[in-house]
Amino acid sequence: MKIVTCVAPVNIAVIKYWGKRDENLILPINDSISASLSTDIMCAKTTIMASPLLKENKFWLNGREQTFDSPRLSNCIKAIRARCDETLPQFNWKISICSENNFPTAAGLASSAAGYACLVHALAHLYEIKGEISDIARQGSGSACRSIYGGWVQWHKGDLPTGADSIATQIAPADHWPEMRIIVLVVNDCRKKYSSTSGMKTTTETSTLVKFRAESVVNQRAKAMKKAIEDKDYESFAEITMKDSNQMHAICLDTFPPCVYMNDTSHAIVNLVHSYNEYKKGQKVAYTFDAGPNACIYLLQSEVEQFISVVNHVFPKPADIDAVEYYRGLTLPNKQLDK
Ligand code: DP6
Repeated sequence: MKIVTCVAPVNIAVIKYWGKRDENLILPINDSISASLSTDIMCAKTTIMASPLLKENKFWLNGREQTFDSPRLSNCIKAIRARCDETLPQFNWKISICSENNFPTAAGLASSAAGYACLVHALAHLYEIKGEISDIARQGSGSACRSIYGGWVQWHKGDLPTGADSIATQIAPADHWPEMRIIVLVVNDCRKKYSSTSGMKTTTETSTLVKFRAESVVNQRAKAMKKAIEDKDYESFAEITMKDSNQMHAICLDTFPPCVYMNDTSHAIVNLVHSYNEYKKGQKVAYTFDAGPNACIYLLQSEVEQFISVVNHVFPKPADIDAVEYYRGLTLPNKQLDK
């Protein structure tokens, strides 16, 4: 019998992945960049047991048994097993996978990214695979490839039709910019109508704006973002982060039928951040939104206390259904996945 347990971080994109050029291999139309959050606070945890005594493969997610036949799970397992030494005894044993997230689903953070990164990392340990695995995590959920690494991470879209070069690399470890913090402003909302997967599929099929982004904007923006991170240039970092989030959501509205992820409270947060920055005479706080109404705020430690008091003033508790519910300060890990 062999048992492995791994943890993987949540990541928050500052240059967004939105649109695939290959649905099956999960190949994106552009590069994206994110930071991985500290696994001390929020992470996915996966334990896999392989044993000659197991009669069938099983998969539990947050305590609930799931089908083992989902195409994404099968693709990851197939890709991992293709790199495994077939003479290892565990190659022929059935496996039991148990995955959980240690953060509330209400936080609306991309749990699939951490979840698939963790699963693939655990499978790689189980089958004793060394080397690059972000291309395999990508086949579970695109953004999962960025959660294979800590710190600041770039997912290169790649050019090959096989997807072999569509991998993540670390731009800088978390301790490169130790003052950076992320606050998650959770906005209460109904369940989102479109998942990221279905939303970006409709975008690729119907939006003209997404083509403009892919051809004329995002490459140059990813380069400028990488430089801002390397130079620890917060002002540039903040401006690009906000512009890229705004462009992703503009593209969502250009999708037909439109995917509306941000709500009135999200827009109130956007206005608050711009007013705060105007008052401070510079970009001191940056928002970014994924496929939901919740805001992720990137800011330096020196701004945290003041910004949080402003948020509490503008969105007093107890919150109504649309108000900011809670926030949480986060730090970044400076290492790859923990075992
Ligand atoms: C808005 O990785 O969840 O969070 O590849 O279809 O599983 P699939 O999509 P997913 O998309 C995440 C999109 C995003 C932006 C980002 O994280 O870059």
